[in-house]
Amino acid sequence: MKLGIEDISLATTSLVLDLDEVAAAQGADPDKFRIGIGQDSMSIPAPDEDVVTLGAQAAQRVLHGQDLSAIRTVLFATESGVDQSKSAGVYMHRLLGLNPNARVIEFKQACYSGTGALQLALALVARNPEQKVLVVAADIARYDAGSSGEPTQGAAAVAMLISATPDVLAIEPVSGLYTQDIMDFWRPNYRSTAIVDGRYSIKAYLDSVKQSWRDYRAQGGHELSEFDHFCYHQPFTRQAVKGHATLAREGGVDAETRDAQLEHTLDYNRVLGNSYTASLYVGLLSLLDSSPDDLTGHRIGFFSYGSGAVGELFAGVVQPGYRTRSHRTEHRAAIDGRTPIDYARYFELHERPDDVDGGDHPRERGTTGPFRFAGVRDHGRVYEPTS
Ligand code: HMG
Repeated sequence: MKLGIEDISLATTSLVLDLDEVAAAQGADPDKFRIGIGQDSMSIPAPDEDVVTLGAQAAQRVLHGQDLSAIRTVLFATESGVDQSKSAGVYMHRLLGLNPNARVIEFKQACYSGTGALQLALALVARNPEQKVLVVAADIARYDAGSSGEPTQGAAAVAMLISATPDVLAIEPVSGLYTQDIMDFWRPNYRSTAIVDGRYSIKAYLDSVKQSWRDYRAQGGHELSEFDHFCYHQPFTRQAVKGHATLAREGGVDAETRDAQLEHTLDYNRVLGNSYTASLYVGLLSLLDSSPDDLTGHRIGFFSYGSGAVGELFAGVVQPGYRTRSHRTEHRAAIDGRTPIDYARYFELHERPDDVDGGDHPRERGTTGPFRFAGVRDHGRVYEPTS
């Protein structure tokens, strides 16, 4: 029995900041960002956008035409949670009119938890192939303004329908795993921005690539030359390039194969920025949407990394129906349709105080998406469709 992704789609925010604006504000050479870290721009949320609205927007597309009664589990992965107790997924569940006879849970382990949710979804479907699981990974990456992490912010959500009829990607059962308790990147409860030891986090990521690969091979996984493509968690696109150079050395493939395996996987992240839990799957959509080739039968490798730190390396094979599930036009429209803002407007949004009880978000200069966060009433967040 094949198990995997039946449908997959992404959403991003309504606003975008070109990294030349950040370079000018920081007094940095724009090439440091465009070439050095491999990023051009980053998605910025409007005041009435958050992980719930982004997640619901991405999920709405994969739910179109589905029998919602088959979805009895909803897994929401994020490290930009909107409440310490209630899952963002429960708010989304109502917005989407999902089956009340379902379980809804939020997952957290930095950028890794989208993959954790996906793997648990596969196990649930293996137990009962009649059921489908909705997995949503959504994040808004935030660092202090003026910091070295600032150009690596961004935002996106990816929704995946996991089932025993995987029209897009059949996921193979072998995984390479690696966990270590380290402080490379984290966000204490009293902060809305992450703390990061940038150089150390890069080393920790590359170490995790190596260790996860060794475990993958020890568990009976394929040789590196058997992969047509490789997708990475992309805090910035150059990190994926560094990760794959490390893997190519481990797996003994030549430079031509190494470069071909990464082709088309970086395009979307370069313009969206880091989307934490969603980033790896944004890389997959970049490949599926951008490659001119018929990818049917191609094996894709995936490396998922979440600081703190957990790594997982696994594989999937593209299925014949993947083009019938394409949302390429909508993805391109979402990316190209973002409104450019300048550094001053970004800074104003970045520094605005946390939402408090009684605060409302006006519709003006708000989201262009189908759902909005209207404000906080009686200490509860209020969400509504925009039309
Ligand atoms: P920095 O220290 O300011 O930058 O910030 P740098 O001086 O290291 O320069 C970056 C690169 O640009 C270097 O290339 C420079 O040589 C090059 P490298 O040596 O690395 O190949 N450069 C130039 N290139 C062309 N023209 C120029 C120029 N100037 C310099 N003029 C840093 C970099 C990544 C540390 C910073 O952006 C940061 O702290 N980012 C946040 C942390 C991060 O993304 N870490 C990645 C691994 S951890 C991870 O992936 C998990 C994460 O997603 C969180 C989670 O799990 O939840 C972050």
